Amino acid sequence: MLFLSCAIFQAFLVSSSNNGGLFPDLYQFSCPEANEIIMSVLEEAIAKDPRMAASLLRLHFHDCFVQGCDASVLLDNSSAFKSEKEAGPNKNSLRGFEVIDQIKAKLEQVCPHTVSCADILALAARDSVVLSGGPYWEVPLGRRDSKRAYFNKANANIPAPNSTIQTLISLFNRQGLNEKDLVALSGAHTIGVARCVSFRQRLYNQKGNHLPDATLEKTYYNDLKSICPTSGGDNNITPLDIASPNRFDNSYFKLLLLGKGLLNSDEVLLTGKVKKTKQLVKIYAENEAIFFHQFSKSMVKMGNISPLTELKGEIRKNCRRVN
Ligand code: HEM
Ligand SMILES: *[C@@H]1O[C@H](CO)[C@@H](O)[C@H](O)[C@H]1NC(C)=O
Ligand SMILES: *[C@@H]1O[C@H](CO)[C@@H](O)[C@H](O)[C@H]1NC(C)=O
Repeated sequence: MLFLSCAIFQAFLVSSSNNGGLFPDLYQFSCPEANEIIMSVLEEAIAKDPRMAASLLRLHFHDCFVQGCDASVLLDNSSAFKSEKEAGPNKNSLRGFEVIDQIKAKLEQVCPHTVSCADILALAARDSVVLSGGPYWEVPLGRRDSKRAYFNKANANIPAPNSTIQTLISLFNRQGLNEKDLVALSGAHTIGVARCVSFRQRLYNQKGNHLPDATLEKTYYNDLKSICPTSGGDNNITPLDIASPNRFDNSYFKLLLLGKGLLNSDEVLLTGKVKKTKQLVKIYAENEAIFFHQFSKSMVKMGNISPLTELKGEIRKNCRRVN
């Protein structure tokens, strides 16, 4: 036992130097069932609704970009703050909250007050990628949960789909993420869907001149117009990756090269006149293994944004409310 605790302490020292106080084996003894519980809830949820994998991956992103990965995104409205769920990028769009609730309820039964909601989001994102055919990575753990939500920051920090490449780069830089992270993490759009409101501007008025985005491939453009009329149908949805909507692979990048990326923010990685992002799109389109490797690295990096550790934050009992 002494040897074991020494080994764990050492592992902690080693990984905490890279991961801001987080380390992968945190629940090895305090909640050894955690991984299995999360995986089993996800298997069922994703079998019922394959899109759920995408929705859970996105939840972690929208959590981390707002005051760090602290499960602030999961909090409902309260008298003390307005929820991030009401913010522009999230409203009528974020989903998966019930699945997180289900995981949390099971974990509270088996190992109460142990696994934070922020860690659940990080693990659910990883497992969702794995269950969709993507890479596996070790998730550093030990995030604590915030005691409030940040509505204004959710509006300010989460990139809009019509962002220019410069805006994307600067919003990622603000989180300590570089162009490599931006391109690799955008590859998350290999699964899931977007609503008409998220891409309408490209079809009808890309530059305020009432013309479509010239980079859109013709037949794809026509298909999109039938899904997304000039007005109405705001919530009509279409896959971000039309080649394999539920499969985590590199087809997102291949489609970009064909003019078949759905969002402006996808397209500009290639055509936004930044050499570095353009090169990376081509590399990932050609080589899925390189994409998987960088995606895993960038997910760990994103998951380490300003975690609340030690006595900061709390372990929520219910992910929707502070204790
Ligand atoms: C680079 C800047 C990004 C922008 C501008 C962006 C924007 C969007 C938008 C507008 C949607 C569709 C929302 C809707 O219409 O309801 C979406 C969906 C999605 N995003 Fe992003 N995103 C970005 C980066 C990321 C990152 C870094 C991840 C994860 C690592 C991610 C994961 C997803 C997933 C999986 C979906 C589909 C969700 C679902 O089907 O429920 N996105 N994104
Ligand atoms: C949260 O509060 C806002 C107003 O501050 C309100 O518009 C919204 O409907 C509330 N959402 C929920 C889920 O109660
Ligand atoms: C993006 O869309 C928003 C809201 O629809 C609009 O106010 C803004 O001007 C657009 N930005 C660009 C760069 O087109």
